Amino acid sequence: MATRPPIIGPSTGPEAPYPLQMEGKVTSGFGRGSKELGIPTANLPVDDNLTPWIAEIKSGVYFGWASLRLPSSHPNQSMASPDAAATTTTPEARSRFSIYPMVMSIGYNRFYKNTERSAEVHVLHEFGADFYGVEMRLLITGFIREEKDYAELDALIEDIKVDCDVARKSLDREAWALWEMGKGTLDGSWLARETPEQNRAVV
Ligand SMILES: Cc1cc2nc3c(=O)[nH]c(=O)nc-3n(C[C@H](O)[C@H](O)[C@H](O)COP(=O)(O)O)c2cc1C
Repeated sequence: MATRPPIIGPSTGPEAPYPLQMEGKVTSGFGRGSKELGIPTANLPVDDNLTPWIAEIKSGVYFGWASLRLPSSHPNQSMASPDAAATTTTPEARSRFSIYPMVMSIGYNRFYKNTERSAEVHVLHEFGADFYGVEMRLLITGFIREEKDYAELDALIEDIKVDCDVARKSLDREAWALWEMGKGTLDGSWLARETPEQNRAVV
């Protein structure tokens, strides 16, 4: 098997057309991600009107950052406790976003012969519970590899593990890490931005 590059992109940071943005509510996929692959994926609806670039982008594996607005009832909610959050009025407390590195597949999942294009995100973090219906925003910083058809499931799993390593290593550089997380210089303000809706409805 050909060795794959361990890091993607120059040390100066993402190159045009990246970073690309995408957002939506997490839907359940076909459920094979967790069960068969051991790699849970959060799916986002693909809407050509909201993300015109998605029609032109090639199928394959991408990487970047994901922000999740987890409800206070979720075990991975970053605020200390629901009670504390309810009485706090800082913007940070109201938005309650959590940012994680991610790898994602945009395509038809040739292995499973899907007929509709999908965007499936594997967030690089261990979660204590599902987060279907949660608002997710993506900052896609680059392309890792083309989508492949596999003879065996094991080969797909192996490649996804390498994708995860490549994403982690690539994002762990100053110009690829987020300023908002106190580690880098990449502008991730879109991931953390408040919307009027979020200010009104604190779940
Ligand atoms: C990082 C990543 C890379 C993937 N690469 C491929 C691929 O090369 N070929 C393929 O057919 N599917 C690929 N997939 C898609 C998986 O087959 C998919 O996640 C699986 O079908 C689970 O989908 P489900 O949760 O909708 O059932 C990839 C998924 C991820 C998260």
